[in-house]
Amino acid sequence: MENLFSFDIVFFGGKGGVGKSTSSSAFALAAAKKRKKTLLVSTDPAHNLSDLFDEEIGDKKRKLTDCLWGLEISPENESRRYINQVKDNLKGLVKSHMAEEVNRQIDMAAVSPGSEEAALFDRLVEIVLDEKENFDLIVFDTAPTGHTVRLLSLPELMEAWIEGMLQRRQSINENYSQWLNDGEPVDDPIYRVLMNRKDKFSAARKVLMDNKRTAYIYVLVPEKLPIAETKRAVKLLEKTELRVNALVVNKCMPVHAGDSEFIQKRRNQEKRYLTQIEEMFSSREKLYLPLLAEDISSREALETIMSCFLE
Ligand SMILES: Nc1ncnc2c1ncn2[C@@H]1O[C@H](COP(=O)(O)OP(=O)(O)O)[C@@H](O)[C@H]1O
Ligand SMILES: [Mg+2]
Repeated sequence: MENLFSFDIVFFGGKGGVGKSTSSSAFALAAAKKRKKTLLVSTDPAHNLSDLFDEEIGDKKRKLTDCLWGLEISPENESRRYINQVKDNLKGLVKSHMAEEVNRQIDMAAVSPGSEEAALFDRLVEIVLDEKENFDLIVFDTAPTGHTVRLLSLPELMEAWIEGMLQRRQSINENYSQWLNDGEPVDDPIYRVLMNRKDKFSAARKVLMDNKRTAYIYVLVPEKLPIAETKRAVKLLEKTELRVNALVVNKCMPVHAGDSEFIQKRRNQEKRYLTQIEEMFSSREKLYLPLLAEDISSREALETIMSCFLE
C-alpha cells in the first residue's frame, strides 16, 4: 500500500462496524511513523478516535504522536455553527424588521433533511482548504455519503446557480451605482459572500476530484452485505469520476486460528466471499487485515494493524 502515502487526502468509507475507524487510524499512524505530518479527522458522531488513542480529542486539532494530529467533528455541532454563521453573515444585510422572519426561515431550513450533511461538507471544505498547507496528509474517517457525492458532483449546477445570482446582483448594482454613485461601483456584501463561497467550493472540488491528490478507500469484511454495499458505493463514486483506489478487507481469519469444525465452517464461508471480492474488484488494490483475538481498543492493538499498512 506504499503509494497511498503519497496522496494529500485519503478517505476511508464503508458500512458501520467494518473497521473504518480502526483502519483509518492505523493508516494515519503508519503515515506518521513514516514522518509524514498527518491530520486524522473523524466525522462519525459515535467518535472512537479518543478511545483508540486514549486521548480526549475534540473539535480542536490535538497532537497524538510526533507527526500525528487528531480532530473529531460532529454533524450536529457543525450544523449549529453553520446556521449561526449564516445568521451572522445576514445580520446587517437585511432590514431589522425582517430579521426575525429571516432567522425563522433559517431555523426551519436547519432541520430539513440533508442539512447536517451540508454543514459537515462545508466544514470538510474548510479543512481541506485550510489544512492542506499545514499537513502532508489528511485522513478522513468517513466516506463521502450519497449526499456529499451529490454535492461534489453537482458543482456545475451549483456554480451555474451562483453565477446567475452573481450576475443578477451585479446588474442591479450597476444600475444602482449609475443612479447613486455617479457610476462608481457599490460594495455589495451579499455579492462578496456568494463569490467567496463559490471560490472556496471550486477550490475544494479541484482537490477532491483530483485522483492524483485524493484517494478513496473502502473498508469491508468478507461477508455478504458489506460486499453488496461496497459494490454499490464503488459504482456510485465512479459515476461521478471518483475512483476508489483500494479496498481494505478487514477481519480475515488468521492462519493460527486453528481448525475446529466451527472454524473450518467459518473458513469455508470466508473463502467463498474472498473469491467474490477478488472477482468483483479485480482491478483494485486490496489489503487484507487479520481478525485479532480482541477488539482494537488500545494503541498496542492499533499498532499491530498499523504494521500491516507498512508491509
Ligand atoms: N481486525 C480486527 N480484529 C478485531 N476486532 C476488530 C478489527 N477491526 C475492527 N475491530 C473491532 O470492530 C469494531 C468496529 O470497528 P470500527 O473500526 O469502530 O468500525 P467502523 O468505524 O467502521 O464503525 C470495534 O469494536 C473494533 O475494535
Ligand atoms: Mg467509526
